[in-house]
Amino acid sequence: MTVIKPHGVTIKATAHYLPERVVTNADLEKIMDTSDEWIVQRTGVRARHFCAEGESTREMSFSVLKDLLRNANIKPDELDLFILATVGAHMTCPSTACQILGDLADDPEFGHTNAGAFDITVACSGFTYGLNMAHDLMASGQYRNIAVIGAEHLSQYVEMTTRGRGTAVIFGDGAGGAIVSRSDNHDHGILAQMMRSDGAKWGELYIPEKARDIPEQTHNDEMPLGLMRMNGRAIFKFAVGTFGDLIQQTLDKADLSPADVDHYICHQSNVRILEACRERFGIPQEKMPINIDRLGNTSAASVPILFDEQVKAGRIKPGQKVMFVAFGAGLTWTSSLWQL
Ligand code: COA
Repeated sequence: MTVIKPHGVTIKATAHYLPERVVTNADLEKIMDTSDEWIVQRTGVRARHFCAEGESTREMSFSVLKDLLRNANIKPDELDLFILATVGAHMTCPSTACQILGDLADDPEFGHTNAGAFDITVACSGFTYGLNMAHDLMASGQYRNIAVIGAEHLSQYVEMTTRGRGTAVIFGDGAGGAIVSRSDNHDHGILAQMMRSDGAKWGELYIPEKARDIPEQTHNDEMPLGLMRMNGRAIFKFAVGTFGDLIQQTLDKADLSPADVDHYICHQSNVRILEACRERFGIPQEKMPINIDRLGNTSAASVPILFDEQVKAGRIKPGQKVMFVAFGAGLTWTSSLWQL
Protein backbone atom coordinates (compact mmCIF):
# COMPACT_ATOMS: atom_id res chain seq x y z
CA MET A 1 0.00 0.00 0.00
CA THR A 2 1.41 3.41 -0.93
CA VAL A 3 1.26 5.91 1.90
CA ILE A 4 0.56 9.40 0.58
CA LYS A 5 2.37 11.89 2.76
CA PRO A 6 1.06 15.47 2.87
CA HIS A 7 4.68 16.65 3.31
CA GLY A 8 8.08 15.40 4.37
CA VAL A 9 9.43 15.14 7.90
CA THR A 10 12.94 16.13 8.88
CA ILE A 11 15.22 16.18 11.92
CA LYS A 12 15.85 19.90 12.21
CA ALA A 13 18.20 20.07 15.18
CA THR A 14 20.05 17.88 17.67
CA ALA A 15 21.67 18.49 21.07
CA HIS A 16 23.03 16.62 24.06
CA TYR A 17 24.15 17.18 27.63
CA LEU A 18 26.59 15.28 29.83
CA PRO A 19 27.14 15.89 33.54
CA GLU A 20 30.64 17.23 34.26
CA ARG A 21 31.58 14.49 36.71
CA VAL A 22 33.54 11.68 35.00
CA VAL A 23 33.96 8.34 36.80
CA THR A 24 36.67 6.08 35.36
CA ASN A 25 37.12 2.34 35.83
CA ALA A 26 40.11 3.20 38.06
CA ASP A 27 37.73 5.18 40.31
CA LEU A 28 35.43 2.12 40.55
CA GLU A 29 38.36 -0.18 41.37
CA LYS A 30 38.83 1.90 44.55
CA ILE A 31 35.29 1.34 45.83
CA MET A 32 34.34 -2.18 44.69
CA ASP A 33 35.89 -5.50 43.78
CA THR A 34 36.29 -5.01 40.02
CA SER A 35 39.03 -4.23 37.52
CA ASP A 36 39.50 -2.06 34.47
CA GLU A 37 40.44 -5.20 32.54
CA TRP A 38 37.19 -7.04 33.45
CA ILE A 39 35.00 -4.05 32.62
CA VAL A 40 36.70 -3.26 29.29
CA GLN A 41 36.75 -6.88 28.15
CA ARG A 42 33.11 -7.64 29.03
CA THR A 43 31.49 -4.30 28.18
CA GLY A 44 33.87 -1.90 26.40
CA VAL A 45 33.23 0.81 29.02
CA ARG A 46 36.23 2.85 30.26
CA ALA A 47 34.46 5.85 31.80
CA ARG A 48 30.99 7.27 32.35
CA HIS A 49 29.46 10.60 33.46
CA PHE A 50 27.45 10.73 36.68
CA CYS A 51 25.10 13.50 37.81
CA ALA A 52 26.35 15.74 40.59
CA GLU A 53 24.26 16.39 43.70
CA GLY A 54 21.10 18.26 42.66
CA GLU A 55 21.46 17.29 39.00
CA SER A 56 18.85 14.96 37.52
CA THR A 57 16.72 13.98 34.52
CA ARG A 58 14.91 17.31 34.73
CA GLU A 59 18.00 19.55 34.71
CA MET A 60 19.74 17.58 31.95
CA SER A 61 16.63 17.53 29.76
CA PHE A 62 15.99 21.23 30.32
CA SER A 63 19.49 22.03 29.09
CA VAL A 64 18.97 19.86 25.99
CA LEU A 65 15.54 21.38 25.26
CA LYS A 66 16.97 24.93 25.39
CA ASP A 67 19.80 23.95 23.02
CA LEU A 68 17.33 22.27 20.66
CA LEU A 69 15.18 25.41 20.47
CA ARG A 70 18.27 27.55 19.87
CA ASN A 71 19.72 25.18 17.24
CA ALA A 72 16.39 24.86 15.40
CA ASN A 73 15.79 28.60 15.79
CA ILE A 74 12.23 28.10 16.99
CA LYS A 75 10.37 29.91 19.75
CA PRO A 76 8.55 28.06 22.55
CA ASP A 77 5.16 28.88 20.99
CA GLU A 78 6.28 27.22 17.73
CA LEU A 79 6.82 23.95 19.59
CA ASP A 80 3.71 21.75 19.32
CA LEU A 81 4.72 18.72 21.38
CA PHE A 82 7.45 17.53 23.76
CA ILE A 83 8.04 13.79 24.27
CA LEU A 84 10.44 12.89 27.10
CA ALA A 85 11.72 9.30 27.13
CA THR A 86 13.10 8.31 30.54
CA VAL A 87 12.91 5.71 33.29
CA GLY A 88 13.78 8.50 35.73
CA ALA A 89 10.60 10.60 35.85
CA HIS A 90 10.70 12.72 39.00
CA MET A 91 7.17 11.99 40.10
CA THR A 92 4.32 9.70 39.15
CA CYS A 93 2.29 12.83 38.48
CA PRO A 94 2.78 15.22 36.71
CA SER A 95 5.07 14.19 33.87
CA THR A 96 8.65 15.45 34.03
CA ALA A 97 8.06 16.79 30.50
CA CYS A 98 5.42 19.19 31.90
CA GLN A 99 7.76 20.25 34.71
CA ILE A 100 10.46 21.05 32.15
CA LEU A 101 8.04 23.20 30.13
CA GLY A 102 7.33 24.97 33.43
CA ASP A 103 11.07 25.61 33.76
CA LEU A 104 11.08 26.93 30.20
CA ALA A 105 8.24 29.36 31.05
CA ASP A 106 10.35 30.73 33.95
CA ASP A 107 13.42 31.23 31.75
CA PRO A 108 13.62 34.84 30.45
CA GLU A 109 15.32 33.68 27.19
CA PHE A 110 12.38 31.40 26.32
CA GLY A 111 9.00 31.75 28.05
CA HIS A 112 5.65 30.04 28.10
CA THR A 113 4.37 27.36 25.71
CA ASN A 114 1.16 25.34 25.52
CA ALA A 115 2.92 22.54 23.64
CA GLY A 116 1.60 19.09 24.50
CA ALA A 117 3.98 17.25 26.84
CA PHE A 118 4.27 13.73 28.20
CA ASP A 119 6.79 11.12 29.37
CA ILE A 120 7.22 7.69 27.84
CA THR A 121 8.81 4.76 29.69
CA VAL A 122 10.47 2.46 27.20
CA ALA A 123 13.93 2.31 28.85
CA CYS A 124 16.77 2.16 26.31
CA SER A 125 14.31 2.02 23.40
CA GLY A 126 12.64 5.26 24.53
CA PHE A 127 14.19 7.88 22.26
CA THR A 128 13.75 5.77 19.12
CA TYR A 129 10.12 4.97 20.03
CA GLY A 130 9.64 8.74 20.51
CA LEU A 131 11.21 9.51 17.15
CA ASN A 132 8.81 7.12 15.41
CA MET A 133 5.84 8.62 17.23
CA ALA A 134 6.94 12.18 16.41
CA HIS A 135 7.42 11.33 12.74
CA ASP A 136 3.99 9.76 12.35
CA LEU A 137 2.24 12.58 14.23
CA MET A 138 4.04 15.05 11.98
CA ALA A 139 2.91 13.10 8.91
CA SER A 140 -0.69 13.75 10.03
CA GLY A 141 -0.11 17.34 8.97
CA GLN A 142 -1.26 18.76 12.31
CA TYR A 143 2.11 19.55 13.91
CA ARG A 144 5.06 21.74 12.93
CA ASN A 145 7.77 20.99 15.50
CA ILE A 146 8.07 18.16 18.03
CA ALA A 147 10.92 17.85 20.56
CA VAL A 148 11.98 14.31 21.48
CA ILE A 149 14.45 13.92 24.34
CA GLY A 150 15.96 10.80 25.89
CA ALA A 151 17.37 11.47 29.36
CA GLU A 152 18.56 9.14 32.09
CA HIS A 153 19.89 9.52 35.62
CA LEU A 154 20.79 5.85 36.01
CA SER A 155 23.47 6.35 38.67
CA GLN A 156 20.59 6.75 41.16
CA TYR A 157 19.50 3.15 40.45
CA VAL A 158 22.84 1.38 40.97
CA GLU A 159 24.75 0.61 44.14
CA MET A 160 28.42 1.62 44.20
CA THR A 161 29.53 -1.52 46.03
CA THR A 162 30.78 -4.99 45.13
CA ARG A 163 27.19 -6.23 45.49
CA GLY A 164 26.09 -3.70 42.87
CA ARG A 165 28.98 -4.15 40.45
CA GLY A 166 26.88 -6.10 37.93
CA THR A 167 25.10 -2.87 36.96
CA ALA A 168 27.30 -0.13 38.51
CA VAL A 169 30.10 -0.56 35.95
CA ILE A 170 27.83 -0.47 32.88
CA PHE A 171 25.55 2.53 33.17
CA GLY A 172 26.04 6.30 32.87
CA ASP A 173 23.99 9.52 33.02
CA GLY A 174 23.19 11.94 30.19
CA ALA A 175 20.56 13.40 27.88
CA GLY A 176 20.15 13.98 24.17
CA GLY A 177 17.41 14.95 21.80
CA ALA A 178 16.14 16.12 18.45
CA ILE A 179 13.57 18.47 16.95
CA VAL A 180 11.38 16.73 14.38
CA SER A 181 9.85 19.21 11.92
CA ARG A 182 7.72 19.49 8.83
CA SER A 183 9.71 19.60 5.56
CA ASP A 184 8.73 20.81 2.08
CA ASN A 185 10.72 17.92 0.60
CA HIS A 186 8.39 14.90 0.40
CA ASP A 187 11.35 12.52 0.25
CA HIS A 188 12.41 13.37 3.82
CA GLY A 189 11.22 11.08 6.58
CA ILE A 190 11.06 7.52 7.80
CA LEU A 191 11.49 4.71 5.26
CA ALA A 192 10.80 1.90 7.74
CA GLN A 193 10.26 1.58 11.48
CA MET A 194 9.56 -1.04 14.14
CA MET A 195 8.45 -0.89 17.78
CA ARG A 196 8.28 -4.28 19.47
CA SER A 197 8.25 -5.84 22.95
CA ASP A 198 8.23 -9.16 24.79
CA GLY A 199 6.49 -8.49 28.07
CA ALA A 200 7.03 -12.09 29.20
CA LYS A 201 10.69 -11.15 29.74
CA TRP A 202 10.19 -7.96 31.81
CA GLY A 203 11.71 -9.60 34.89
CA GLU A 204 15.15 -9.75 33.25
CA LEU A 205 15.70 -6.02 33.87
CA TYR A 206 13.63 -3.97 36.26
CA ILE A 207 13.60 -1.53 39.17
CA PRO A 208 11.20 -2.73 41.89
CA GLU A 209 9.65 -0.02 44.05
CA LYS A 210 7.72 -2.28 46.43
CA ALA A 211 8.26 -5.85 47.64
CA ARG A 212 5.20 -6.95 45.65
CA ASP A 213 6.97 -5.86 42.44
CA ILE A 214 9.48 -8.70 42.72
CA PRO A 215 8.21 -11.75 40.85
CA GLU A 216 9.07 -15.20 42.21
CA GLN A 217 10.06 -16.74 38.91
CA THR A 218 12.42 -14.05 37.66
CA HIS A 219 15.89 -12.79 38.25
CA ASN A 220 16.39 -11.83 41.87
CA ASP A 221 19.83 -10.57 42.82
CA GLU A 222 18.79 -9.24 46.21
CA MET A 223 19.45 -5.59 45.53
CA PRO A 224 17.46 -3.21 47.75
CA LEU A 225 14.14 -1.83 46.51
CA GLY A 226 14.56 1.15 44.20
CA LEU A 227 17.71 -0.25 42.59
CA MET A 228 18.10 -1.98 39.25
CA ARG A 229 18.00 -5.79 38.97
CA MET A 230 19.46 -7.22 35.79
CA ASN A 231 20.00 -10.73 34.49
CA GLY A 232 23.05 -9.77 32.42
CA ARG A 233 23.52 -13.12 30.71
CA ALA A 234 19.89 -13.40 29.63
CA ILE A 235 19.89 -9.84 28.28
CA PHE A 236 23.13 -10.45 26.43
CA LYS A 237 21.76 -13.57 24.74
CA PHE A 238 18.50 -11.82 23.87
CA ALA A 239 20.29 -8.73 22.53
CA VAL A 240 22.79 -10.43 20.24
CA GLY A 241 20.03 -12.18 18.27
CA THR A 242 17.36 -9.47 18.42
CA PHE A 243 19.64 -6.62 17.41
CA GLY A 244 20.71 -8.30 14.19
CA ASP A 245 17.21 -9.54 13.34
CA LEU A 246 15.85 -6.04 13.91
CA ILE A 247 18.32 -4.52 11.45
CA GLN A 248 17.53 -7.20 8.85
CA GLN A 249 13.75 -6.79 9.22
CA THR A 250 14.02 -3.00 8.94
CA LEU A 251 16.16 -3.26 5.81
CA ASP A 252 13.67 -5.73 4.32
CA LYS A 253 10.76 -3.37 4.99
CA ALA A 254 12.58 -0.58 3.13
CA ASP A 255 13.84 -2.97 0.42
CA LEU A 256 17.45 -1.93 1.13
CA SER A 257 20.69 -3.83 1.68
CA PRO A 258 23.06 -3.14 4.63
CA ALA A 259 25.42 -1.11 2.42
CA ASP A 260 22.59 1.26 1.35
CA VAL A 261 22.43 2.74 4.85
CA ASP A 262 25.03 5.46 5.53
CA HIS A 263 25.01 5.31 9.35
CA TYR A 264 23.78 2.91 12.01
CA ILE A 265 23.20 4.80 15.25
CA CYS A 266 22.86 1.97 17.74
CA HIS A 267 22.03 1.90 21.41
CA GLN A 268 25.33 1.66 23.30
CA SER A 269 24.61 -1.38 25.46
CA ASN A 270 27.78 -3.40 25.22
CA VAL A 271 30.60 -3.23 22.69
CA ARG A 272 30.51 -7.02 22.20
CA ILE A 273 26.84 -6.92 21.18
CA LEU A 274 27.55 -4.09 18.70
CA GLU A 275 30.61 -5.81 17.24
CA ALA A 276 28.71 -9.08 16.72
CA CYS A 277 26.07 -7.17 14.81
CA ARG A 278 28.57 -5.21 12.74
CA GLU A 279 30.32 -8.42 11.69
CA ARG A 280 27.04 -10.17 10.80
CA PHE A 281 26.24 -7.48 8.21
CA GLY A 282 29.80 -6.56 7.19
CA ILE A 283 29.20 -2.96 8.23
CA PRO A 284 32.44 -0.90 8.33
CA GLN A 285 33.37 0.55 11.72
CA GLU A 286 32.91 4.18 10.61
CA LYS A 287 29.26 3.47 9.73
CA MET A 288 28.50 2.10 13.20
CA PRO A 289 30.13 4.53 15.64
CA ILE A 290 30.72 3.70 19.29
CA ASN A 291 30.97 5.97 22.33
CA ILE A 292 30.21 3.48 25.10
CA ASP A 293 33.93 3.59 26.02
CA ARG A 294 33.54 7.23 27.14
CA LEU A 295 29.91 7.29 28.30
CA GLY A 296 28.80 3.81 29.34
CA ASN A 297 25.21 2.76 28.66
CA THR A 298 23.01 5.85 29.06
CA SER A 299 19.77 4.01 28.17
CA ALA A 300 17.26 6.32 26.40
CA ALA A 301 19.96 8.99 26.07
CA SER A 302 22.50 6.84 24.25
CA VAL A 303 21.06 7.02 20.72
CA PRO A 304 20.44 10.82 20.66
CA ILE A 305 23.83 11.59 22.27
CA LEU A 306 25.67 9.48 19.68
CA PHE A 307 23.59 10.99 16.87
CA ASP A 308 24.34 14.55 17.98
CA GLU A 309 28.06 13.78 18.28
CA GLN A 310 28.12 12.43 14.73
CA VAL A 311 26.11 15.36 13.34
CA LYS A 312 28.36 17.92 15.10
CA ALA A 313 31.48 16.11 13.81
CA GLY A 314 30.11 16.59 10.27
CA ARG A 315 29.91 12.85 9.63
CA ILE A 316 26.13 12.73 9.19
CA LYS A 317 24.87 14.92 6.37
CA PRO A 318 21.52 15.85 4.80
CA GLY A 319 20.48 13.41 2.09
CA GLN A 320 21.95 10.39 3.88
CA LYS A 321 20.14 7.34 5.26
CA VAL A 322 20.44 6.74 9.01
CA MET A 323 19.10 3.77 10.94
CA PHE A 324 18.47 4.21 14.67
CA VAL A 325 18.43 0.89 16.53
CA ALA A 326 17.79 0.20 20.22
CA PHE A 327 16.69 -2.47 22.69
CA GLY A 328 16.17 -2.49 26.42
CA ALA A 329 14.03 -3.22 29.45
CA GLY A 330 10.48 -4.39 28.84
CA LEU A 331 11.97 -6.16 27.00
CA THR A 332 11.60 -3.78 24.07
CA TRP A 333 13.31 -3.24 20.74
CA THR A 334 12.89 -0.65 18.01
CA SER A 335 14.28 0.81 14.82
CA SER A 336 13.76 3.97 12.79
CA LEU A 337 15.28 4.25 9.31
CA TRP A 338 15.41 7.84 8.07
CA GLN A 339 16.04 9.54 4.79
CA LEU A 340 17.54 12.78 6.11
N1 COA B 1 33.77 -6.81 38.01
C1 COA B 1 34.41 -7.98 38.20
N2 COA B 1 33.78 -9.17 38.19
C2 COA B 1 32.45 -9.16 37.97
C3 COA B 1 31.73 -7.96 37.75
C4 COA B 1 32.45 -6.76 37.78
N3 COA B 1 31.85 -5.57 37.58
N4 COA B 1 30.44 -8.28 37.57
C5 COA B 1 30.34 -9.62 37.66
N5 COA B 1 31.56 -10.15 37.89
C6 COA B 1 31.92 -11.56 38.05
C7 COA B 1 30.75 -12.42 38.46
O1 COA B 1 30.57 -12.42 39.85
C8 COA B 1 31.15 -13.77 37.92
O2 COA B 1 32.06 -14.36 38.81
P1 COA B 1 32.06 -15.95 39.05
O3 COA B 1 32.39 -16.55 37.72
O4 COA B 1 33.12 -16.12 40.05
O5 COA B 1 30.67 -16.28 39.51
C9 COA B 1 31.92 -13.44 36.64
O6 COA B 1 32.34 -12.07 36.78
C10 COA B 1 31.08 -13.61 35.39
O7 COA B 1 29.84 -12.94 35.59
P2 COA B 1 28.74 -12.91 34.47
O8 COA B 1 27.58 -12.09 34.96
O9 COA B 1 28.46 -14.28 33.98
O10 COA B 1 29.53 -12.12 33.33
P3 COA B 1 29.15 -11.85 31.83
O11 COA B 1 30.23 -12.32 30.94
O12 COA B 1 27.75 -12.30 31.51
O13 COA B 1 29.18 -10.27 31.78
C11 COA B 1 27.66 -8.44 31.69
C12 COA B 1 28.25 -9.53 32.55
C13 COA B 1 26.61 -7.71 32.51
C14 COA B 1 28.76 -7.48 31.28
C15 COA B 1 27.05 -9.07 30.41
O14 COA B 1 26.22 -10.15 30.77
C16 COA B 1 26.26 -8.09 29.60
O15 COA B 1 26.80 -7.16 29.04
N6 COA B 1 24.95 -8.30 29.49
C17 COA B 1 24.08 -7.40 28.78
C18 COA B 1 23.68 -6.30 29.72
C19 COA B 1 23.05 -5.14 28.99
O16 COA B 1 23.35 -4.85 27.87
N7 COA B 1 22.16 -4.49 29.70
C20 COA B 1 21.52 -3.31 29.25
C21 COA B 1 20.40 -3.61 28.37
S1 COA B 1 19.92 -2.14 27.60
